[in-house]
Formats: sequence, structure tokens, C-alpha cells
Amino acid sequence: MIRTLAISGLAAASLFGGAGAANAQSGELVFYCAADEGICRLLSESFQRETGINVLMTRKSSGETYAQLKAEEGQPRGDVWWGGTGDPHLQAAQEGLTSVYQSPMLEELQDWAVRQAETADYRTVGVYAGALGFGYNADLIDPASPDAPKCWADLLNEAYRDEIQVANPNSSGTAYTLLATLVQIMGEDEAFEYLAALDDNISQYTSSGSAPIRAAGTGESSIGIVFMHDAVAQAVQGSPIQTVAPCEGTGYEVGSMSLIEGGPNPENARIFYDWVLTPEAQELGAQANSFQVPSNVNAQTPPESPNLDEIELIDYDFALYGSSDERARLLARWDSEIGAR
Ligand code: G6P
Repeated sequence: MIRTLAISGLAAASLFGGAGAANAQSGELVFYCAADEGICRLLSESFQRETGINVLMTRKSSGETYAQLKAEEGQPRGDVWWGGTGDPHLQAAQEGLTSVYQSPMLEELQDWAVRQAETADYRTVGVYAGALGFGYNADLIDPASPDAPKCWADLLNEAYRDEIQVANPNSSGTAYTLLATLVQIMGEDEAFEYLAALDDNISQYTSSGSAPIRAAGTGESSIGIVFMHDAVAQAVQGSPIQTVAPCEGTGYEVGSMSLIEGGPNPENARIFYDWVLTPEAQELGAQANSFQVPSNVNAQTPPESPNLDEIELIDYDFALYGSSDERARLLARWDSEIGAR
């Protein structure tokens, strides 16, 4: 461990310190990215430009990336998994698919990001946070109307038959966050009753978590259940999207990052890990319309980011809902009671 820290400390010093550091490194980094394409590409290009390390990036949703690590167990092809919701990162940690690393950058991180690391015995770390909610198309639903949706309960209104999209929680961390959030707010049986009733209004379960709000943005559907910052991103890009923090309270994600156990380029993976936790790298988010709250205390939160202090957040139990047994059990119940309907 001491050797690990020394190597990465040195690498970090040369990377962030000297002008001569650019292109000093070589080799490859196989990067599994589980956030939106825009930020995945921007991080890949920026890191490659700053270090000379050739980045091979694959974007998939959170649950899909976890499944890929599981499928590659014993012969891993990836080096680092950045982004996507924290629960599948915690599950991967518990199953030994990811490796222990205490970055020197940990001391610059928000408490919630360090807690995420502690929960996984340092096999993962928080990179950003964001609250769950929904957004609707204000050309299709009048925000001034008393019937405009404000609460989870409002989404059951039969006026929204086939007008709502949400992702499938097997592939999508966003949709798993919804499932775990409703269980924590309502109780498990009540949450599944709610999801069964909501199913009547769902036109499509997408594989990616943010796709539903793009569909609402174009008017293909009226409402998308997504992270609030994903709804804000559509509004910033000119879509008539109204963002809602549900009145009953809501859950949130600690978007995470993990090093893949036995990956082919461990040293480059640690260089990326330390770099992507710097304020400079975290501030790239805003350029890519990624409006999560960054985990480095010195990184500026974009002004567009929903203010987590003003949203009624539940005390999301990451240790429980990120555990292998609980995540697998809830997904199996979702498959049999909702997916199979
Ligand atoms: C979007 C959000 C991220 C979130 C991710 C999860 O990219 O901006 O904050 O972590 O969705 O993606 P998924 O497809 O797994 O729901």
C-alpha cells in the first residue's frame, strides 16, 4: 500500500505540477464510463491530452457496467470504472471485483464521498452527487395548472397513461435509485404497489437512465423520471423541461468510481483516479452539461446544479441498497412483479 501511494503521489505531482509533465506518460487506459456520453468523452479527451495515455472508453449504464465486470471476473479487460450511481459500485466492491485504493485526493473530498469509500473499505469513492426527481414537458403540461405534477403520487394520474418513461433498474442505476428510494419512503410492499400502478402510465422502460428526459424534451412523451440534474441539462439545451423535486422527499446518488481488480494497466488507472478527483477535472462537468454536485470541496458547483440543501432528501441507506443480496433481491422482485406485467 505504501508503495502504491508513493507511485501515485509521484505521478500526481508530475501531472499537476510541472508544465513539462504533459505527454510524460505512455500506454493505455481502458476506461468504463457509466455517465452520459458527453462527459465520458470530455474526460477521456482531456486526460489523454494531459498525460499522453491513450484512453479506450466504453460507455454503458451503471447496472450494465457492473454486469460487464461480473462477466469479465478473472480476466478483466477494464482498468477503471468512473461514474454511474454508487449502488452497483458498492455491490462490485463487496464481490471483490474492484480493488482497494486510498487516493491522496481523499482529503479534498466532501464527507459523503469519503463515506462512500469507507462503506466499501476503499474499493470505491464518491465523484459526484445528485438528487432523483422528474421532469415534464411544459408545452404538454401547463406548469401553472393546479394539476401539474409535484409529487410521486401525482404520477399515477390516469391523464398520464403511456405518457411517462423511466429506465429499467437492471440496466440503469437511475431506475434502481428510484426503486430503492420508493422502498425507503413508502415501505417495500407499498413501493411495489405504487410501481405496478405507475406501470399503467409507462410507455417505455429505457436502458439508459437519462433517456426518458430526452424523450420528454422532444415531446415523444410528457414526463421522464430521472436525476434532477439530467432534467436541468435538457432545459439548459433549450428543451421546454420543468424540473420537479417530489413533495414526498426523494433519494439521491453518490456517483462513484472504482479501480477494476486485476485490470491490465493498474498504474495508469491510479493516475486517472487521482486526476479525475482534482477540482480542474471535476469542473469539466459543466462544459458537458453534467450538472451533478462535484465531490472535491474545491471544485465549483455549476450554478445550474439543483441545490441539494433545498431538496428534501431521504437518509438513503447506501450500505443496504448497495449490498449484493439486497440489490439482487429487489431486482428479482421488480422483474417478476413489474417487468413481467
Ligand atoms: C446520468 C446522470 C448521472 C447518473 C447516470 C446513471 O448520466 O447524469 O448522474 O449517475 O445517469 O446512469 P444509468 O443509465 O445507469 O441510470
